[in-house]
Amino acid sequence: MNIEKYFPMLNNELVYFDNGATTLKPITVINKEIEYLSTYTANSHRGDYNNSFKVDDEIDNTRNLVKEFINAKRKDEIIFTSNATDSLNLIVNGYFKYYLKDGDEVILNKAEHASNILPWLMLKKEKNITIKYAHMNEDFNLTLENIKKEVTSKTKVIALAEVTNVIGDVRDIESITKYAHSKGILVVVDASQSAPHKKIDVTKTDVDFLAFSAHKMLGPTGVGIMYAKYELLEKMKPVKYGGGMNEIYNEEGLKLVEIPYRFEAGTPNISGIIAFSESIKFLNKVGMDNIVLKEKHLKKYLITELKKIPYIKIYNEKSASGIVLINIDGITSGDLGLYLNTKNICVRSGKHCTKMLQDESGFSDTVRISLYFYNSYEEIDKLILALKDYDAILKFSE
Ligand code: ALA
Repeated sequence: MNIEKYFPMLNNELVYFDNGATTLKPITVINKEIEYLSTYTANSHRGDYNNSFKVDDEIDNTRNLVKEFINAKRKDEIIFTSNATDSLNLIVNGYFKYYLKDGDEVILNKAEHASNILPWLMLKKEKNITIKYAHMNEDFNLTLENIKKEVTSKTKVIALAEVTNVIGDVRDIESITKYAHSKGILVVVDASQSAPHKKIDVTKTDVDFLAFSAHKMLGPTGVGIMYAKYELLEKMKPVKYGGGMNEIYNEEGLKLVEIPYRFEAGTPNISGIIAFSESIKFLNKVGMDNIVLKEKHLKKYLITELKKIPYIKIYNEKSASGIVLINIDGITSGDLGLYLNTKNICVRSGKHCTKMLQDESGFSDTVRISLYFYNSYEEIDKLILALKDYDAILKFSE
């Protein structure tokens, strides 16, 4: 498969290594969105005419594809949100706000993205709960053994990214969930950096809640997924109230419509949800196993070449994902990122939305090179060439 020809953004001089932030879009996704916008624009669940019926069918089709993609048992376990952040906020404020009682404990890790820390910290302001942080090993692995050290009889939930967005370490979610369930603990997984890169199987891992964003996996921005087991969704409360989620209401109360629609109040990102179906089809066509393999090879090559440059510090060589963190002594990560921009190379620098990471890892600001399957060895060569020009980097940062 000649992957490049499907991505308009790959047909220019740009080297795009910021896939942890968002990914490029294949033409099939772009065309699907254009098709809705130009030939059958209508709202969902509302109209009595063909275009509106088609919109409902298309949204249903995406829901079904997502269900298959993560191997959920039921289609109505898939809730459309606006992004993973929205999904995690729904999980915390729609479920755990009511489920957690005084004295209960939540386990997180300080390498998590803000979206899987801040909703919990805000909940702690409202409720008498304790947040504990499981620690990583020296090689930045979060082992089950270290998680166990934080577990007490009061632990009610473990909430972790499957792959962290900065260090890029991969957590063994299946083992963590198996252990958690043996203790009656629920498991929330932020799959923002894993769903685009590896096979997700919620039936096999048995996770209770899962969150991810479409735009990090070839899809449009403004579309997120919240998965939860049906029996948990039955106990969950909406956090958004309005159109589309109520069957009837008056001053005394409200009757909710069925799951999943009760959690999807208001007009959704219709064009985005519809086009997301093409992202999933594209990923299926490439094959998640092939994606894992390609990223592994690219990363190995990148690390090998980076190591040939003596002044480059690599932080996370052992992490199993396609994320590589670097710095150069005496140059700020921001300057290095901006220098690479002058060479048409896109990376992300700074703290990458993980402002508690320093406590855990001892470092904070880095340049993040995040790979995806459509990247090439030639692009890595361009990056290496740019990084080898120490005088130019120094001059740029002065
Ligand atoms: N969460 C995104 C990132 O890691 C924005 O860059």
